[in-house]
Amino acid sequence: MNTSPAPVPVFDLRRQTEALRPELLEALAGVLDSCAFSSGRAVEAFERAFAEYLGVAEVVGVNSGTSALHLALLAAGVGPGDEVITTSLTFIATAWAISYAGATPVFADIDPEDFCLDPAAARAAITPRTRAILPVHLYGQAADMSVLQELCSAKGLALVEDAAQAQGATYQGRAVGGFGLAGCFSFYPSKNLGAPGDAGAVSTNDPQAAALIRRLRDHAQREKYLHDRVGFNYRMGGFLAAALSVKLPRLDDWNERREAIARAYREGLAGLDELVLPTPRPGRGHVWHQFVVRHPRRDWLVERLAERGIGTGIHYPRPVHLQPAYAHLGLREGSLPEAERAAREVLSLPMFPELTDAEVERVVRAVRELLA
Ligand SMILES: Cc1ncc(COP(=O)(O)O)c(C=O)c1O
Repeated sequence: MNTSPAPVPVFDLRRQTEALRPELLEALAGVLDSCAFSSGRAVEAFERAFAEYLGVAEVVGVNSGTSALHLALLAAGVGPGDEVITTSLTFIATAWAISYAGATPVFADIDPEDFCLDPAAARAAITPRTRAILPVHLYGQAADMSVLQELCSAKGLALVEDAAQAQGATYQGRAVGGFGLAGCFSFYPSKNLGAPGDAGAVSTNDPQAAALIRRLRDHAQREKYLHDRVGFNYRMGGFLAAALSVKLPRLDDWNERREAIARAYREGLAGLDELVLPTPRPGRGHVWHQFVVRHPRRDWLVERLAERGIGTGIHYPRPVHLQPAYAHLGLREGSLPEAERAAREVLSLPMFPELTDAEVERVVRAVRELLA
């Protein structure tokens, strides 16, 4: 008989989906009744609810976080010949959006304390071609928004936030997504607020940007069948919006549970040799999309934890500037030392609101056994 305890998954969506099944089915049935499958009432209702949650003037729902970034950059006037400064320690889509807009991503190094774009490095990367700065609120913690806001206004640059991993995160008490021209959210299923499929949204306080993004997501139609520029089919689906409206009222509770898990990890794993724990910056409401530790023998630790049934993730093993798709930029190993070191050392422990206290305890025990 196998008496070893069940593995602890790095992420498990089934638990949340099962808990919400009756409400989700009811919401989805409402969309079936309305037949508003693409755009329509459910999307508009979610846009209003999420705008209120964020405290911004408008939210425009789209079909992915990648599309949100693309349209936000177009609304910022980014185009061919422009440069956009961003971080290399991110999911590749941050850079894709810059490329889709016809611009060149310029990667600046991260601050190793919070893994986000280092404002001093961003400042040093500004050239006459720079049009925008695109920080990422990585792992659920806001980048240094007041310094980046000052920098952008001093230099006449647009500030666009990649908030794909940071639904509900705050900076000095205000939700991320409202600090620049636009905030870009992903509702990929594994996000803190995840849809049953691909979806995203742009948040903005700028009515002109909102109007342009609304048009661009729907083939740039000014009126039916009148298109005055190249547009996109980036509309949000009704089922996705209806499910998101069921989940949004729970987001703060889920984020609080993530905070409790993060506290348990930080207390349980304190004082271990060579293990660097994440320390949230003062004034930033971290929503722990990932709980990321660093260790110089990361790959060894991943393997030993896997043998003990503990799932882990690596976000991300290769920084974007060293991806083959961006080889033409000519950035070699050593060009962004902090992002590269993070890519070698980071390790994400299991983190989702439905993780039980017993599972958290098992993770802590396993890591302690290996490193104490
Ligand atoms: C930081 C970041 N930016 C952009 C994206 C792209 O979002 P999506 O997968 O919804 O296109 C993601 C997530 O997937 C992300 O984590």
